[in-house]
Amino acid sequence: MKGIILTGGKGTRLHPASKTINKGLLPIYDKPMIYYPLSTLMLSGIKDILIISTPEDIDRFKDLLGDGSFLGINLSYDVQNEPNGIAECFIIGENFIGDDSVCLILGDNIFYGNHFGNILRDAVQDVEHNLNSNIFGYYVLDPERFGVVEFDSDMNAISIEEKPSKPKSNYAAVGLYFYTNSVIDIAKNIQPSNRGELEITTVNQEYLKRKELKVKLLGRGHTWLDTGTHDTLVDAALFVRMIEQRQGLKIACPEEIAFRMGFIDEKTLLDLGKKYNNKYGSYLQKIVQS
Ligand code: DAU
Repeated sequence: MKGIILTGGKGTRLHPASKTINKGLLPIYDKPMIYYPLSTLMLSGIKDILIISTPEDIDRFKDLLGDGSFLGINLSYDVQNEPNGIAECFIIGENFIGDDSVCLILGDNIFYGNHFGNILRDAVQDVEHNLNSNIFGYYVLDPERFGVVEFDSDMNAISIEEKPSKPKSNYAAVGLYFYTNSVIDIAKNIQPSNRGELEITTVNQEYLKRKELKVKLLGRGHTWLDTGTHDTLVDAALFVRMIEQRQGLKIACPEEIAFRMGFIDEKTLLDLGKKYNNKYGSYLQKIVQS
């Protein structure tokens, strides 16, 4: 399975904080925001990842992450010229995806929770072996702000709507999607919504029509944060700081995940740690020594 991180858009909700820098590069406590979705893909076992951002921003992501070899993964880059909608990423990424299945994560979605890696790898299996696409539902009090999904007792999606004024459930569809290869054709054939965007929800509605859309739940022990406003940006930073200071374990540290997933060896991790003359570097070195 391939992975895509979409971190384009105009980010106007965060201006002036993100006026001259893509919000994916803004820090969430001790690391750039993109480290969080990158970590989620790596935890899923995905090693071929395409980062899509704006023509103005893409080179800064390249400066930050390069070809990914320091993490034992392969990173490629492409641009979305205008924010024409989330689903456009499958058209931009057509050659990258090739004949494979694909996981999309939105660059501003942060996940944390017990056994999250297992849940992700189950989704990969379900797509690859059963040809079901998988989305994730998260119970929220304000579902009208999100894509809203309704499902039956077998976890088949039965309705999904984008920011409905009368939500049919309290389950938000989070910005993490596991799709079969059909997603390329689906994205090419959907029509833009009233706001002129190729909506990810329209893609999900097509899978639902085909009875190929399963819902997995992220329950009470899981945290899902999207960082689209000044307040949620600070909330996310404080959340990460609180957990990291309490446990001494980092959330979404790609170097650590690369090591634990077997993508890089001890020496590589140690060398990465030595490059930072700060607490982040000491943390990486401590993982090897513990
Ligand atoms: O966070 C989950 C929600 O994300 C889902 O529940 C919704 O169904 C989905 O539509 C999306 O809603 P948002 O209102 O959060 O979408 P937004 O337009 O803010 O875009 C999300 C991210 O994707 C943001 O970081 C910008 C980026 N983006 C968005 C569009 C429309 C792009 O890179 N290109 C685009 O064309």
